[in-house]
Amino acid sequence: RPVKPKGARGLRFTPVAPNKNDAVTVPDGYRQNVVIRWGEPILRGAPAFDPERQTAKAQAGQFGYNNDFLALLPLPGERGRQLLVANHEYTDEVLMFRGYDAANPTREQVEIAWAAHGLSAVVVEEDRRTGALTAVPRHHLNRRVTATTAFRLTGPAAGSDLLKTSADRTGRTVLGTLNNCSGGTTPWGTTLHGEENFNQYFANSSRATDKRYGIGTGATERKWERFDKRFDVAREPNEVHRFGYVVELDPYDPDSTPRKHTLLGRFKHEAATVRLTPDGRPVVYTGDDERFDYFYKFVGGKRMKKGSSRAAREHNLSLLDEGTLYVAKLTGDSPAIEIDGTGKLPADGEFDGSGVWIPLVTADADGAVSHVDGMSAEEVCVFTRLAGDKVGATKMDRPEDIEPSPKTGKVYVALTNNSNRGAGSNAPADEANPRNANKHGHVLELTEHRNRADSLEFGWSLFLVAGDPEDPATYFAGFPKENVSPISCPDNVAFDDHGNLWISTDGNALGTHDGLFGVATAGERRGELKQFLTVPTGAETCGPLVQDRRVLVAVQHPGEVDGASVEKPASTWPDGPGKIVRPAVVAVWRADGSDIGV
Ligand code: FEO
Ligand code: CA
Ligand code: CA
Ligand code: CA
Repeated sequence: RPVKPKGARGLRFTPVAPNKNDAVTVPDGYRQNVVIRWGEPILRGAPAFDPERQTAKAQAGQFGYNNDFLALLPLPGERGRQLLVANHEYTDEVLMFRGYDAANPTREQVEIAWAAHGLSAVVVEEDRRTGALTAVPRHHLNRRVTATTAFRLTGPAAGSDLLKTSADRTGRTVLGTLNNCSGGTTPWGTTLHGEENFNQYFANSSRATDKRYGIGTGATERKWERFDKRFDVAREPNEVHRFGYVVELDPYDPDSTPRKHTLLGRFKHEAATVRLTPDGRPVVYTGDDERFDYFYKFVGGKRMKKGSSRAAREHNLSLLDEGTLYVAKLTGDSPAIEIDGTGKLPADGEFDGSGVWIPLVTADADGAVSHVDGMSAEEVCVFTRLAGDKVGATKMDRPEDIEPSPKTGKVYVALTNNSNRGAGSNAPADEANPRNANKHGHVLELTEHRNRADSLEFGWSLFLVAGDPEDPATYFAGFPKENVSPISCPDNVAFDDHGNLWISTDGNALGTHDGLFGVATAGERRGELKQFLTVPTGAETCGPLVQDRRVLVAVQHPGEVDGASVEKPASTWPDGPGKIVRPAVVAVWRADGSDIGV
């Protein structure tokens, strides 16, 4: 997208104070509307949402549950309209179904949950009079992808024995995508979606490789294995190897088969953010959201073709099948000290150092080679965490979303928290993860060598160490702490065109609700973090997407509070008392219609 020649001058809005409102709270002078809610019909023939009469068939034509990543793609020729693509990470059965019996879900409830997972593509249009953004049901580009939609596996592991099942002897076709957390929009007009906590859907495993991925030895909470044996590892051992990938969707072709790219590795992908090398090859950053896990970079071998011809689009859909996957190793440049209650800094005054990208697997037109001793290329693609272990990658505090600045090329890595850092035999604080029992997380700023996306070396420093600014163990890029908003558990990150970083949070450990924050990353306002909005009770702030005049957020799992249910709701957002709580996408804009990021 075009980068405007304006500098980051800091953000002008008056910060929203931390609060516990069961509402989306925005700054004075801003307006908001709900763009689309769980259950709203988007496909032709889908019925209106009726929480008391849900069916799997209805849900398959309606917007799914727990919206997370959001993309907005242009729709040339349709004035005032864009194509919204949303992830539906997971289902909260107890908040969806009245009288839900967790020990004995019904087949219909399970099939509704399958249909409520996945992705939605839905055209949205702007009301030029009010500024509101609303969905356009029944548009021919609207689409639902669910836990039963056919996907094509690509890359080195496709067709390997590790991916063959009794239902798919080719190892190339898998049904569905699960737990799509964050994602990315590619410069070639497709969307990427990270399959994150896929372990929770698979039961009865006893393998060490599955244990490394958190797959349990007993029944799952949702009990899907009772209704489809592919979710039972004891009966269908390889199905679990077919989840945990970066998924690619071509939203402009509603009949296309979406893909799972094995060359980008298998782990709990939070997101996948794309930039291009100067000669037009894709570079993808992707984090593995687990305590003490790694973050990765893929460098493509083929150049993107410009234009929207069929041949160009088909070529570009293969860009993530050739290239090299790397994992990050970071080294501090000072004796490691913990950032603690004294506010002490390392000897050179900064938490910083250098790093290298360690190659794991390379694929080209002739095949794939592993760079990891004792593992084949297929094994590196399927058991990527084990490959990272072998090469000595750096254990991080839950790598979440990663985003390069369109202005400076610096790359920002959200590390959400790690309560186990330094506990027992776990790795202690180091310069890149400088806090033991890290409750509030931090954001790392990474500069590729010579600012080239495909460099194999980088420098890094901490941009934010989150928490209450009155806590000495926090850091806001050196900005005076009396003038910043408290923040906890950074999760998703996005840039506006002016170079401001927007950070959304999940799991605020300061006792108030999650929200969205904006911060300049360059200039004299660098580090001036301001809270832009807060979300309702129990919700996480997802998606964030900042266009010139509008911010979109996905309000995920509102009302998700221990002990809450349809009968005993903790939230009645967005429709008020007496109405079922519904995850939904919200648009926010300035009442005067001017730009937000300046
Ligand atoms: Fe689904 Fe890592 O957040
Ligand atoms: Ca240092
Ligand atoms: Ca997330
Ligand atoms: Ca999260």
